[in-house]
Amino acid sequence: MTRAAPKSFSVKSFGCQMNVYDGARMAELLEADGMVAAAGADADLVVLNTCHIREKAAEKTFSDIGRLVRDDGSRPMIAVAGCVAQAEGAEITRRARNVDIVVGPQAYHRLPQMIAAAARGEHAVDTDMPRLEKFAALPARRRVPPSAFLTVQEGCDKFCTYCVVPYTRGAEISRPWGAIMSEARALVDAGAKEITLLGQNVNAWAGDDGFGRAIGLDGLIRALDRIPGLKRIRYMTSHPNDMYDGLIAAHGDVESLMPFLHLPVQSGSDRVLGAMNRKHDVADYLRVIARVIAARPDVALSSDFIVGFPGETDAEFEDTLRLVGACGFASAFSFKYSPRPGTPAAQMADQVRDEVMNERLQRLQAAITAGQVAFNRRSVGTRTEIMIERDGRKPGQRIGKTPGLQSVHVEIDAAIGDLIEVEIVSAGPNSLGGRAVALAEAA
Ligand code: SAH
Ligand code: SF4
Ligand code: F3S
Repeated sequence: MTRAAPKSFSVKSFGCQMNVYDGARMAELLEADGMVAAAGADADLVVLNTCHIREKAAEKTFSDIGRLVRDDGSRPMIAVAGCVAQAEGAEITRRARNVDIVVGPQAYHRLPQMIAAAARGEHAVDTDMPRLEKFAALPARRRVPPSAFLTVQEGCDKFCTYCVVPYTRGAEISRPWGAIMSEARALVDAGAKEITLLGQNVNAWAGDDGFGRAIGLDGLIRALDRIPGLKRIRYMTSHPNDMYDGLIAAHGDVESLMPFLHLPVQSGSDRVLGAMNRKHDVADYLRVIARVIAARPDVALSSDFIVGFPGETDAEFEDTLRLVGACGFASAFSFKYSPRPGTPAAQMADQVRDEVMNERLQRLQAAITAGQVAFNRRSVGTRTEIMIERDGRKPGQRIGKTPGLQSVHVEIDAAIGDLIEVEIVSAGPNSLGGRAVALAEAA
């Protein structure tokens, strides 16, 4: 069936920040192609930018596709992008016949041609992985939030036994220094004050400094630090084995590098870490964070955990709880292990029962929350600078982020993107209350 070329679009992103970045770039691409943004299923074209990391995330794609059919039986043109597209390819159009386009995370710069093919009634499927081609083919950055994402590295060579990312995003590759610097300058010109450098293993970024000298992520951060108007730099996500000396040192001496580090550990048991193929043990991890804390004592640490990896015993889980207690994380994510097709762990014996995983997850989350509350309480009475990111629920209230990425509610007449000095006056598990310092001093 042929159909009219779509005039409006919506992009919905799931999963990690790299998908958020890709979603923003797809929107910019479609706008440059003459389409306008519209709300959800009202759009002529809906792009579902999907995540394959756990079964629930992947299955959500198919329920979302079903929901796009309108009351009168019509439906938008539907594109499945992201990691489910890469993992399942043309199989998606067999399982969900309403899908017109399947496009992987390295091929979405070709969306305009695929949309034209879909309008001719063809199923358009592209799961090629041309290295870095998309970045050169995408239009220049235009509308950006004060806190912007910039993908500098893609893919993963680590092959943790539970994880699909090496298959959905391909081999590790670093974008070149020049391309990153010009995109960063364009982001700052368009209003960004904070840039978060993204990569599945961002601290494995490697390149040269434009003069042929080899540099790592710290060299890139030092170059970005010199861009006038760029106030805050962050990076995520890092692998513990790639936290090298120069990057740790940068936490101590680059002022715009924010005191925050998301460093997934996954488990507190050396046997489980071995079975996960993490290639580090608990002691390695503790050594790395001790060195980061020595370089930057006020650093806020964050992590990811998996409970119920195949064969995980009660005692091994207790080791994870102990690690959480020892590290004092400011925040952390925790997940139930989800077997993923094609990964080695999915074939392992001793898959852990769901009830056991649920119980472990609850206990882990309680331990993480306790650490988070303690971290937040320690902020009360201190002064810090927040960047206003959005309006709060109450009139006159704004929400901003501290250097350590805590949310602060403050009553102030300030614009999104303003940097404001506040005194922290209260702390809850998930956010802080603040008072603008000028107001606090007048009181
Ligand atoms: N590259 C990053 C993050 C990858 S995905 C890193 O290695 O740190 C984000 C998180 O999802 C992982 O850190 C892990 O905790 C979780 N995860 C990945 N695969 C999973 C699976 N099969 N089941 C449950 N959680 C998983
Ligand atoms: Fe997945 Fe491990 Fe790579 Fe992270 S380091 S993306 S968990 S394979
Ligand atoms: Fe999900 Fe792909 Fe990111 S699987 S977490 S969207 S890299």
